[in-house]
Amino acid sequence: MRGDTGEQSFTLVLVVDADSQTRETLRQAITRSGCQVAVAPDGAEGLSAFERLGPDMVVVGAGIPMVDGFTLCGRLRELPGGDRLPVLMVTPPGDQQAIERALEAGVTDVITMPINVNLVRNRAQYLLGAAHIDRVIERAKTEWEATFDAVSDVIVLTDPEGQIIRCNRATVEGLQTSFRQVIGRPIREAIFGDLEPDGEGAWVRTGEMELPCLGGYCDVSRYPIRLQDSLYGVVYIIQDITERKQMEAKLVASQRLADLGRLAAGVAHEINSPLQVITGVSRSLMDRLEQGTLATERLERNLDVIHRSGWRCADIVRALRTYAHASAAQIEPNDLNEMVEDTLLLIENQLKSWSNIAVETDLTPDLPPLRCDRNQITQVLINLLTNARDAVPAGGKITIGTAYDAESARLVLAVSDTGVGIAESIQANLFDPFFTTKPAGEGTGLGLSIVAGIVRAHAGEIDVNSVVGKGTTLTAYLPDRVPEVGSSPSASGGRFDASPYSEHPAGT
Ligand SMILES: Nc1ncnc2c1ncn2[C@@H]1O[C@H](COP(=O)(O)OP(=O)(O)OP(=O)(O)O)[C@@H](O)[C@H]1O
Ligand SMILES: [Mg+2]
Repeated sequence: MRGDTGEQSFTLVLVVDADSQTRETLRQAITRSGCQVAVAPDGAEGLSAFERLGPDMVVVGAGIPMVDGFTLCGRLRELPGGDRLPVLMVTPPGDQQAIERALEAGVTDVITMPINVNLVRNRAQYLLGAAHIDRVIERAKTEWEATFDAVSDVIVLTDPEGQIIRCNRATVEGLQTSFRQVIGRPIREAIFGDLEPDGEGAWVRTGEMELPCLGGYCDVSRYPIRLQDSLYGVVYIIQDITERKQMEAKLVASQRLADLGRLAAGVAHEINSPLQVITGVSRSLMDRLEQGTLATERLERNLDVIHRSGWRCADIVRALRTYAHASAAQIEPNDLNEMVEDTLLLIENQLKSWSNIAVETDLTPDLPPLRCDRNQITQVLINLLTNARDAVPAGGKITIGTAYDAESARLVLAVSDTGVGIAESIQANLFDPFFTTKPAGEGTGLGLSIVAGIVRAHAGEIDVNSVVGKGTTLTAYLPDRVPEVGSSPSASGGRFDASPYSEHPAGT
């Protein structure tokens, strides 16, 4: 079909035959099917007309002079655009041998003399239609393959059993192999072969993971392909996210530095006041001693001030130790409900003194295991319980709840109290280090900032819900699976650097 250039579209058929009568009959038959016709009397002119005009089809007589029909067909097949060209050959009546030779020479179809005009028209239409469909399919295939190969992500198509049917260029380049080596192999072996099966025994995984065979950190997505209601195959798209992960790790590192700076400033500020008291009051005591004007009563009072300021410093130092200890986490699968029960045992003695406070649990059974650092999550619970206790000075109820949110694959740990509640104006500051509303000496204001840091280090989030005068619920959402590599692709072995310090609510 010409006319792709925007000119009027028409189909051109080249008729090559020595006999002018036959040429004319063929021309008329083909013209009736709506095509234009060019004619040539022999093989040599037929070849040159083909090269000049680029017809959509050739009809050739078997016994033409110069170059015979069989040879002409063979030559046409070797020319550009000739391999898929429909060639219809006209053979002498009753000549079986000519038909055999024609088919061997690669003609598409054969008709025999005498020419039946309707049959010629019919065949021409059929062969041109088939050639057109062939071209459309070929073009679609080429376009699809080029698209597939233009994508830099690895794209693999498997059958329902996981054998690779097709893949793009990025796949063979990434695996440093050839298409032949990849096609037909199980995807489990070709792509995931270096990994152990996951917790559920699956080898083929989705999500973010290190894929050594592709030399990087990847995000694997999987899409089933359905054809007529049955599973035809599965397409995997594997994106290299090594660079993104490295950027994230750098961001986390720079945030930790900023956190550290803020913490240092906070510590300096907090310790400075009691130290000033200690140095100032002791100086004045020494002066009075020198001058012989130091009364015992003043000495007692001032020593008490120094003593309390010293303890304030000691409290701050003790709280800071938690940061130091939290820096190397031991990540293991733990039963969250069991951890809650154990924590309650741990603080059993303190609980006894909470005489007017009822502590209840609302634990959802059969939770999936939580991959976490047991000590750190216990620390979270103790800090939340201590805050809840302080919030119900006149007595009340504290509830510890656990649950699993299947949709987000996160375990939920909530501590609720029926206490004083938290004014909205200070909710944004709760997680700031040294933020406290408690009287001097009763709170360092580090409890919730430690909680937020631990939750964040477990890739979780923490949420506050509070109504003044009614009570407060603090809820930690913890993914059931902390990413194996933590926030940095280089960390490994199930250990990760907890960032126990956070200025903001973790993940919020
Ligand atoms: N359950 C709660 N009900 C009411 N207020 C709360 C609750 N939990 C925390 N808060 C408020 O948040 C502030 C900060 O809590 P955080 O645990 O960080 O420090 P703290 O309890 O004051 O001191 P620390 O825990 O270091 O002894 C508390 O002073 C309190 O005002
Ligand atoms: Mg506290």
